[in-house]
Amino acid sequence: MDPAVVLRRAVDGDAGELLTVQRAAFVSEAQRYGDPSMPPLREDLDAVLAAIGEQVVLVALRGTRLVGAVRGRVEGSTAHVGRLAVAPDQQRQGLGSALLGALEEALPQGITELRLFTGGDSAATIARYERAGYVRAGESVDDHGTTLVHLVKEVGDPARTIG
Ligand SMILES: CC(C)(COP(=O)(O)OP(=O)(O)OC[C@H]1O[C@@H](n2cnc3c(N)ncnc32)[C@H](O)[C@@H]1OP(=O)(O)O)[C@@H](O)C(=O)NCCC(=O)NCCS
Repeated sequence: MDPAVVLRRAVDGDAGELLTVQRAAFVSEAQRYGDPSMPPLREDLDAVLAAIGEQVVLVALRGTRLVGAVRGRVEGSTAHVGRLAVAPDQQRQGLGSALLGALEEALPQGITELRLFTGGDSAATIARYERAGYVRAGESVDDHGTTLVHLVKEVGDPARTIG
């Protein structure tokens, strides 16, 4: 990844820019699935602030510009990974992979599995998660009728905290 990009925990002041980047990134997914009200687009500022307070939320910064984000919600020994988003003009430079890897390291100790889901038509995204060690764990259908593919990654060594 470009050394000019810094990854760190999100703070409340990041919420507005994070939401802007998330919306910009997920528009392509909304168009793919014909679902403009998908949760990453429907989410409001209060929900992002709540996530920053309650979950492990990481942001990627290029200089002062927020260019990506990801979050992990801890539930027992499982971390639910979600909202992986990179600003459209910053994609295909390794930021998404770097955010995913940094999230694993930032999760608290005791996590034994990471879970996430993505749209069943998003073949490139599914393949990318598989290359990152995730395996398919089933499918479901959301309220919009979109098939979701669920993936899980067993964490051999307990994830450690980096701040
Ligand atoms: C999914 C998403 C976060 C990936 O972000 P990204 O920063 O583009 O991810 P990466 O750069 O790590 O990897 C993307 C591709 O770029 C390639 N890549 C990485 N570094 C590269 C470089 N320096 N030069 C050229 N290509 C590169 C990767 O090999 C990968 O290729 P692939 O698509 O053939 O697998 C981004 O596309 C996005 O925000 N999408 C919309 C929201 C979304 O779908 N989120 C996930 C839902 S679960």
